[in-house]
Amino acid sequence: MTKRRIIIDTDPGLDDALAILLALASPELEVLGLTTVAGNVPLAGTAANALRLCELGRRTDIPVFAGCDRPLRRKPTTTLRHGETGLDGANLPPPAMALREGHAVTWLIDRVMGAAPATITLCALAPLTNVATALAEEPRLAKRLAGIVIMGGAGDGGGNVTPEAEFNIHVDPHAAEIVFASGADLTLVPLDLSRQVLVNEARIARIRAIGSNVARAAAGMLEYYNSKAELAAGSPLHDPCVIAHLLDPTLFSGPVVNVAVEVADGPRLGVTAIDWDGRSGRPANARILNAADPDRFFDLLIARLASISDGI
Ligand code: RIB
Ligand code: CA
Repeated sequence: MTKRRIIIDTDPGLDDALAILLALASPELEVLGLTTVAGNVPLAGTAANALRLCELGRRTDIPVFAGCDRPLRRKPTTTLRHGETGLDGANLPPPAMALREGHAVTWLIDRVMGAAPATITLCALAPLTNVATALAEEPRLAKRLAGIVIMGGAGDGGGNVTPEAEFNIHVDPHAAEIVFASGADLTLVPLDLSRQVLVNEARIARIRAIGSNVARAAAGMLEYYNSKAELAAGSPLHDPCVIAHLLDPTLFSGPVVNVAVEVADGPRLGVTAIDWDGRSGRPANARILNAADPDRFFDLLIARLASISDGI
């Protein structure tokens, strides 16, 4: 089996954590590295959390790099949605493994430009600061990548950080504007999709029943995450949808349309305009996934978590 090679840009983050564990547990994927960015918590926290997750998944071979510590223009904004540490509920010790030397953006550019064309997919689970910086420094990256799958944006159902804007885009709308205009092959996982993929007590119980250390940590993270349930029926498991889409493209579907982002200061800052009906006249620039099969998604996630051994 030819593995799909991926790089994960991330701001762990409890849902990032499940996405990273899903990727590490999936033999179809070769995780080339994690690039971290300021997002849910400041960069020092997201970088340390990425190291913790590689150790939890018993993959200390995976290179982890620290990237941008603030958005391109806006001041940094974080969230307590994932607790003070960004991984509350996991009780993971400080990481023993170290970050690799060098800036994440430099490594991202060198790794992709040094590879054969269209052989690496970038999974963007965070504010797009690293991704936009890389594209601005090396515009050829857009076509060198096989594609970029992004968790971000919101269409008809409204936002999760302002009434209309989604967190990853709102933190750095100027970065999103660069990425949306880059010409890369883009797939977007907006809140319209992730709000169909809800973690709840029953699904957490299935994960805890796996019985391994990894599963217990994952269940602990999700219990914390769901303790602040965004919706009555549970909490959207945003970032793992990016990885699951690569593992099984039949799980989610949606049209190829135009998505634009508001960058003007004001109440609509960071709002994504998804042109579902093609009325804008703007050229299509992304596949926007908006239909999900949540039961099959959780069956996949739970099966893969169960495959991670705790070792001897
Ligand atoms: O809006 C959800 C996104 O913002 C997820 O990626 C979550 O981890 C946060 O980064
Ligand atoms: Ca994230």
